[in-house]
Amino acid sequence: MLQRVRRLSALAGCAALLALPLLATAQDAQPSTPWPQGGPPSDVALSELVADALDLFALERFEEFRDAKERGEDSGHIRVFQDDIDAGQYTVDDLFAFGDSVFGHEFRDLDGYGDDPAVRPMQRVHAGARGGRDNFSCLGCHSLGGPDGAGAATQNAYLFGDGADLDSALERNPPMLLGLGMVQELARELSADLQRQRDEALAAAQDQGRDVTAHLVTRDIDFGRITARADGSLDLSAVEGVDDDLVVKPFGWKGVFPDLRRATEDAARVHFGIQSSVIAEQHRDAPAPELLGPGPDWWDPDGDGKQRELEEGSLTAASVYLATLEVPTILPPASPALRNRWAQGDALFDAIGCNDCHVRAIGMANTVWLEYPDTTGAAPFEVELFHAGEEPKGSPNVQLFSDLKRHDMGPGLAERHADTSHPNIGASTWLTRPLWGLAETAPYLHDGRAATVPEAILAHGGEAQESRDAFEALSPEEQASLHVFLLSLTRTPKVRSPL
Ligand code: HEC
Ligand code: HEC
Repeated sequence: MLQRVRRLSALAGCAALLALPLLATAQDAQPSTPWPQGGPPSDVALSELVADALDLFALERFEEFRDAKERGEDSGHIRVFQDDIDAGQYTVDDLFAFGDSVFGHEFRDLDGYGDDPAVRPMQRVHAGARGGRDNFSCLGCHSLGGPDGAGAATQNAYLFGDGADLDSALERNPPMLLGLGMVQELARELSADLQRQRDEALAAAQDQGRDVTAHLVTRDIDFGRITARADGSLDLSAVEGVDDDLVVKPFGWKGVFPDLRRATEDAARVHFGIQSSVIAEQHRDAPAPELLGPGPDWWDPDGDGKQRELEEGSLTAASVYLATLEVPTILPPASPALRNRWAQGDALFDAIGCNDCHVRAIGMANTVWLEYPDTTGAAPFEVELFHAGEEPKGSPNVQLFSDLKRHDMGPGLAERHADTSHPNIGASTWLTRPLWGLAETAPYLHDGRAATVPEAILAHGGEAQESRDAFEALSPEEQASLHVFLLSLTRTPKVRSPL
């Protein structure tokens, strides 16, 4: 239903006649939670959901026809100016709708797709940090199990390669994008707490004129130890699972992006050859052809004659959209027999140490999202995370199944070379992948090598070796119970438009 509201508001303005009467009914309706406890919705609720999906289908077709009739119409929906956001012109629903359009938009030469308009072949294997041109839309890779979902093996990206040979590249499977607002906020809170502990240790060391060691623990997650010296320097050698800056970066399989703004900017750059106005501006005095392209002018770094390929405001809209998507849920099986197996699997998950890394839940203190602009210096756009965007939202005790730390997973999960942009992160080091939504995100692991959950578990090594061996030592029945439990981590069923 919220999906419908959001798409409709995207159309408001230009298709007023069609959109307005529908908008009224959509907004009057209460948010519903269909399929409580795995059961189906009532007949009335179901017909409403079907009617919503059909309306959305009609509107999406209308949008596509209109874009066909007026070339470039669609591109207008993805251009949002930060100044207009700063001036208070948009509500959170407006930004959600714009972000939704950015996410579904098929980028094309009109938008600045790739660089030289005469050379537009797809390039599945990325050329170094510059990227490739491996798809046309975000949705084109993040679509499995529903919109904003994960990717199949055929949607894998081949990062940091030589531009030609699959074997030269780092193969990565697209993760699901639900619940990311909660993830970013948790990471921000953990980082702030770790940095506070560091600063207190520094102050104490200076006061007392001696080394002070702090045990970095936040929300029961252990990030190792830090030693502050009296001269104001730090010994970071015993810090674990996070960079030396103590900023928890929760996005990407290796945990390299701190927030959704930068993840979106990077995705547009490496998958479509679309440079944000922000990144172009950042390199105004220090051109970076290896990242942005060979163009002679800073305002058009890839030299394709298109400037400001992705507006700063569009980054804001995309972040607000991604931050307020639905949150994955846990739907235990309905049948009593399976329910017993589910409960057994639930207990085994802790008993064999899976929750040492896949921490079931982390409490979130703050629920107001602040989306800061990059360059305008204006106040951040505020979003009430639990009241904006899509349902369901889960609870502030976020059931993420991750400690948001990096771990060495052993040689079996090592990549063929280090990530060129982050050579400090070992080839076998990965962020604990959140397990929420797992039922809808096969194939598993960073390169999608595991077709099923048990295969993914058996591929664990390194710091997870003991836990993996404990899984292998379980009886086949117990292994199956754990599998049943993990498949209850899913997303809420919805009646969706076929488009
Ligand atoms: C060619 C397929 C592809 C396209 C197109 C694509 N992505 Fe991704 N996306 C991926 C892969 C693969 C990863 C994992 C990258 C990594 O680990 O470095 C990813 C990761 C992400 C993440 C981090 C999620 C997490 O939990 O770690 C976000 C956010 C994201 N993509 C958003 C987008 C947006 C927004 C777009 C469009 C601008 C987009 N993606 C386009 C494949 C794709
Ligand atoms: C030492 C930390 C650690 C322990 C212990 C651990 N895991 Fe993992 N797990 C990870 C990391 C890191 C990844 C991502 C590895 C990769 O993609 O190469 C991962 C990935 C997974 C995946 C794939 C997720 C996806 O979306 O592709 C599953 C399933 C999984 N773990 C389940 C388990 C289970 C079940 C246990 C207990 C038997 C367990 N893990 C124990 C760290 C751990």
